Amino acid sequence: MPTHIKDVEDIRGKRVLLRADFNVPINNGEIRDDYRIESTLETIEYLVSKGARVLIISHLGRKGSETLLPVATYLEKKFSITFCPEHFGEQAQSLVDNIQEGEVVLFENIRSDEREKEGNEAFAKQWAEYADMYVNDAFAVSHRAHASVVAITEFLPSYMGFQLAKEIENLSKVFKPKKPFVFLLGGAKTETKLPLIEKFMPTADTIFAGGVMANDLCLAEGMRVGDESAYSEGTFDFSRVLSAQNVIRPLDLQIKRGEELLFAHPKDILPSDKVVDSAGPETLSVLKEKIMQAEMVLWNGPLGSYESGYKEATLKLAKLVGQSNAISIVGGGDTVAAIKELNLFDSLTFVSTGGGAMLEYLANESLPGIEALS
Ligand code: 3PG
Repeated sequence: MPTHIKDVEDIRGKRVLLRADFNVPINNGEIRDDYRIESTLETIEYLVSKGARVLIISHLGRKGSETLLPVATYLEKKFSITFCPEHFGEQAQSLVDNIQEGEVVLFENIRSDEREKEGNEAFAKQWAEYADMYVNDAFAVSHRAHASVVAITEFLPSYMGFQLAKEIENLSKVFKPKKPFVFLLGGAKTETKLPLIEKFMPTADTIFAGGVMANDLCLAEGMRVGDESAYSEGTFDFSRVLSAQNVIRPLDLQIKRGEELLFAHPKDILPSDKVVDSAGPETLSVLKEKIMQAEMVLWNGPLGSYESGYKEATLKLAKLVGQSNAISIVGGGDTVAAIKELNLFDSLTFVSTGGGAMLEYLANESLPGIEALS
């Protein structure tokens, strides 16, 4: 386990380079989901309260062309913060030189420099020159060996922040699960999720293979569930999953037939139908029974095409997980959106900020950004 920033003595006056993940959806300058920002506040508040000089870096979006200014505006309500639109010019140097104890500077999107994604060492070193120490609180990007996640740790004493520590502590609970242990998987990306199912097959009592993988599994058995339904590209060896006793699949699916929405068993789905949600009432009733008996539930990925508005099964599943007394660990963009829509944060044990990072952590039990801190 990396060293926690709270275990570092005397950070007053020190310049702390904090890697956050403020990669949040922003529409016309408006932040649509602040969960990741809120999750980093504890670390920022701690550093500020200890009199550190806090220099924050983050990416936003894939290309690096979006601005983090709306995040600075958001943080202004809580901290004495200055937004720096550049990385290494005169303005940046002057802000770094003049930042006072307890103040915060947020730099522009680190991905606007392509050396970030390359993991470039010279780029990391340039950032390191601004600071006395580095804190990674960006679990959600810690699966990327980017300069501000991995290379930077070669040049500064490096620690983990409060959220990163919570992610490790909570997600690692599933490696020695309380039983019965139920693992629910939805969403797309069968290439990432199939290895996860196989990994947890020996320890989970029930694994539900929902989302796009449910369609892929039907197809693997020679049963196409609608020509317009989503299937994963590529070829997969589903033999272990198909023969596993503890992997369950949807009994009924929600389909679109013409303009009508119906529930159907896979064998009754016509080529012209389209699967829009991977759990109908029969499936949800089985899941309810499993979840209510569980001592631990792990869930990643929506059951239906959440972004297209097919949310019903995902919202019902979120309620069930929220009602259960099990240790519940949940993550993934649209899954968290459902939790937020129902305001269920307090009913769950832990909601991860990670999407891809959560899946990679579950698969490998560590991440490059965590390894680099150790
Ligand atoms: C995420 O949204 O999963 C993280 O911020 C990482 O973003 P990336 O997938 O663009 O690296």
